[in-house]
Amino acid sequence: MRTAIISDIHGNHEALEAVLEDVEGMAIDRMVSLGDNVGYGPDPERVLHTLDERQVPSVLGNHELGLVDVSFLSWFNPTARKSLAITHGLLAPESIQRLRAFDRRYSVGSALFVHGCPPDSVTRYFFEVYDSEWRRLFQRMAESICFVGHTHELAMVEYDDAEIAQHILGCGVHRLKADRRYVVNAGSVGQPRDGDRRAKYVIWDDEDQTIEVRCLTYDVEKTVKKILDLGFPRINARRLL
Ligand SMILES: [Fe+2]
Repeated sequence: MRTAIISDIHGNHEALEAVLEDVEGMAIDRMVSLGDNVGYGPDPERVLHTLDERQVPSVLGNHELGLVDVSFLSWFNPTARKSLAITHGLLAPESIQRLRAFDRRYSVGSALFVHGCPPDSVTRYFFEVYDSEWRRLFQRMAESICFVGHTHELAMVEYDDAEIAQHILGCGVHRLKADRRYVVNAGSVGQPRDGDRRAKYVIWDDEDQTIEVRCLTYDVEKTVKKILDLGFPRINARRLL
């Protein structure tokens, strides 16, 4: 089965469209979103509508959590909080209501999907975890592979039942070893922070045992203009350039 994993779209519909167009030619059987579908970007309602239309399941990201639980807003820095306030105003009340149904984890077959860190953290960053703790997390994880987002960067942790190895993931195909287990940090569709403005997503092929990072160009300037026109913090636009 070939699974397209998309993460951190952040209301960027132009980037999402580029991904959906690319997915068409990639013989994909299913798609999963790792959350932060909204926040920072100009088209949160459209993004949620498109994901619904395509019946893409999504786990809860910290930006969805900020929209459904006001007590969580203090977790964010002032810029992200302002972005969430604008995002709230751009969403239909029913759409916010539907975010309440998002779970913190989605486990299917041999794979686990979570926004931050296994087993179910929405807020913990991949890079905050030391090797000794990765070992404990793998030992407690029932699935053989886990996909996380949240950092907007691409990386992978490999575990062979003894040692941990960390890898940076560039664009292209990466082979997995059958006797290893993995946590894959899937990058960001709509707000990459890896120094490369292209939209990124990951294809996992569980028969070929590969991970492919797809890197796509799209009309960034169009998104940037919309972000500025809607009064979002200017940093949200600068980060895309
Ligand atoms: Fe995010």
